[in-house]
Amino acid sequence: MNARPLAMALSLSLTLAAAASAQEEPSQPAPEAKPAAKAKTPTYYGDIAAIVQKRCQNCHRPGAIGPFPMTTYKEVAGWAAMIHEVVGNGRMPPWHADAPHGTFANDRRLPQAEKDAILAWVDAGAPKGDLAQAPKPVTWPEPNAWRLGKVDAVVEEEKTFSVPATGSVPYQYSYVKTNFDEDKWIKGLEVKVDAPGVVHHVLIFVIYPERHKSPRVRGGLRGYFASALPGDAIAPFPEGAAKFLPKGATLVFQTHYTPNGTAQKNHSRLGLLFAKPEEKITRRVQTKSVHTMRINIPAGAEAHKVRATYDFKQDQMLYGLLPHMHLRGKSFYYILRYPDGSVDKLLDVPKYDFNWQNTYRFAQPRFVPKGSRMIGVAVYDNSDKNPANPDPTRTVRFGEQTWDEMMIGYMDLVEASAAERAAWEAERAQEKPAVEKKTQPAPSKEEPKTRSFK
Ligand code: HEC
Repeated sequence: MNARPLAMALSLSLTLAAAASAQEEPSQPAPEAKPAAKAKTPTYYGDIAAIVQKRCQNCHRPGAIGPFPMTTYKEVAGWAAMIHEVVGNGRMPPWHADAPHGTFANDRRLPQAEKDAILAWVDAGAPKGDLAQAPKPVTWPEPNAWRLGKVDAVVEEEKTFSVPATGSVPYQYSYVKTNFDEDKWIKGLEVKVDAPGVVHHVLIFVIYPERHKSPRVRGGLRGYFASALPGDAIAPFPEGAAKFLPKGATLVFQTHYTPNGTAQKNHSRLGLLFAKPEEKITRRVQTKSVHTMRINIPAGAEAHKVRATYDFKQDQMLYGLLPHMHLRGKSFYYILRYPDGSVDKLLDVPKYDFNWQNTYRFAQPRFVPKGSRMIGVAVYDNSDKNPANPDPTRTVRFGEQTWDEMMIGYMDLVEASAAERAAWEAERAQEKPAVEKKTQPAPSKEEPKTRSFK
């Protein structure tokens, strides 16, 4: 399943099929899966409430990041027309990768049947239905509770930031020196904020103690540690694997605020789960990236490409990908070239949205053999057709401010075990006959030959 000829890769044949159906069909009987929705008019209590609970309320409930709650009939019906529009055009739930359902564990898109049900419900005038059919309300954790359960330590921003009611706020950085008396292995992490309505994301960077004199993360080129949409816990890493946090490290919080009409105050906290003393940590969870600072986007260019590569010197398991560009970012994709020359498109984000810094987490981690090369391709729109573009008449170069550009394709990795290599080889041996019948692809234009970016 790993190595694929280019032609197939370009049609994005990510084949994590096993998980695909599991993702789309909830295991417990859920009203939204009822094909009957097509035959009869869906009602709120009979059909829609369950969909909203599962697909919308994690953000649209009091204290979460969505701009309004969707917990009662009245609230949802009041937004019916707008819901029709944004569900119809795919803007909600927010998700920007073009990959089959099941490829990514955190895929938020609606299965077609649920999408159809919502649209039909609004078209029919948003009928309420029979209260007796209403699903049990979901009990969401208290806004202050950690989704990880109990955390071992909390690192918090010292200052509170005043978020204005309107306007745009440049990325805010704050530096928090940790005071643990030893190096720590981190098994899980989660960010909590005071004002989820105006915090779009928080990225956390780590600066090693010896760098304290110049604590700069260069807008994210250095020291990436974790990303978090508020409320989105990073589940405990697999057995024997953890992130390393050196004693005396400084954590940098990079926050993207999006004012929503009401002035608010915020400070963020990072909850950490440590490895238990009895767990032997043999593998390190790391975030590497394809990146380059050689960015030179001509004024008015509609689709300017910038490439960067990363060479794997060790076998790794790839857990997730997070593309990062600024306001001219248009699309981003990652192609993995295996040592035998075959290639696989791992992620395609055709409509990049700067406001949504989403980590795409594989439903099944991908084995990457040493000797492979990751190729990241970022495409920028510096024309006046890009509504987010602050100035289409300017040549745009690398810089940390949102009106400059960045090109980073983060990769969450864990060192692979011998067993994981063996499993991959076995799977590949099975696939081989099928692969050999196909004609070899011509050398890809995507390959930046020997150019390497540091
Ligand atoms: C991951 C969080 C998240 C999920 C899941 C989500 N929303 Fe939203 N929603 C938001 C945020 C944040 C906004 C504010 C606009 C923005 O930032 O894009 C929003 C805005 C909206 C709006 C207003 C339109 C606008 O442009 O402001 C509607 C309507 C909406 N969401 C409906 C839904 C529906 C229906 C679902 C479920 C099917 C859903 N959302 C799922 C976070 C979410």
